[in-house]
Amino acid sequence: MAFPQRRLRRLRRTPALRRLVAETALTVDDLVAPLFVREGIDAPQPIPSLPGVVQHTRASLRREVAELRSLGVPAIILFGVPERKDPQGSGAWDPDGIVQVALADLRDEVGDDVVLMTDLCLDEYTSHGHCGVLDDDGQPDNDATLELYAQVALAQAEAGADIVAPSGMMDGQVLAIREALDEEGWSDVAVLAYAAKYASALYGPFRDAVDVTIVGGGDRKGYQQDYRNAREALEEIRFDLDEGADMLMVKPAVTYLDVITRARALVDVPLAAYHVSGEYAMVKAAAERGWIDGPAVALEQLTAVKRAGADLVLTYFARELAEQFAD
Ligand code: PBG
Repeated sequence: MAFPQRRLRRLRRTPALRRLVAETALTVDDLVAPLFVREGIDAPQPIPSLPGVVQHTRASLRREVAELRSLGVPAIILFGVPERKDPQGSGAWDPDGIVQVALADLRDEVGDDVVLMTDLCLDEYTSHGHCGVLDDDGQPDNDATLELYAQVALAQAEAGADIVAPSGMMDGQVLAIREALDEEGWSDVAVLAYAAKYASALYGPFRDAVDVTIVGGGDRKGYQQDYRNAREALEEIRFDLDEGADMLMVKPAVTYLDVITRARALVDVPLAAYHVSGEYAMVKAAAERGWIDGPAVALEQLTAVKRAGADLVLTYFARELAEQFAD
């Protein structure tokens, strides 16, 4: 066949040619490992809906982060599971709360070799499972919640967080946190805003991991985004950037590749995407049945997230991918 029909296949002939012309490469440097630490347990607890992921003890968390460091994973994001929950979610800012004590352990263990991020929210700590304190209608009271987020940010900063990541989707949360940090001398602590976070059915396994049930079978549609909307995500992103976010996130990832691409075109700060628990669990479940090649699908999906425009990816596959890259 004559030119130009044979042109595209010519550069796909050998692995070296394909490597040479590849537009996107997912590397270990792009990975952030989400980790769970639970108060009051003696041994790590498996999470059935997240195979391979556990609720860590303080000791097992230290070991895991040390291993991630040797694999070259540059960052982790920490979630806490407290022993007791209350309507305010006070465990989130208690200096002796589980995330705070675990952060201090990790700083001691790995120094500055691993970036320590913290999810900044109240849902893991509230008895009703919402991301803020409730008003009379049973929905998070936006402004009352912002005051608590500011306290959580300070507690996490004092405990050693490099980056705090507000995920509660209250309006004005980035500004409230940035102001509190700056006023108390934590100007070096960065904010990664979960800017475009959708009310997604893909967070189910995560809620098992942090023992969260929303009271009365409720949901988060009153504060997280409607999945029918993409332009609205750009509004969220512009606000968070104006409020002082250092980095932005789109979440979930694979189901929202269009949002990642549009966010990338809009901003020049680092853009993160969260390959969430349900996205991970689907790959694991199908792989367990032998229906798909799990590691291959994981690599394909996470490379797609990068191709869409993300600079970094939060993923429960971080460790497995890092091991795959190291081989
Ligand atoms: C809120 C938070 C959630 C996730 C990250 N931060 C749950 C939610 O919004 O209901 C979900 C992450 C995942 O599914 O992997 N603290």
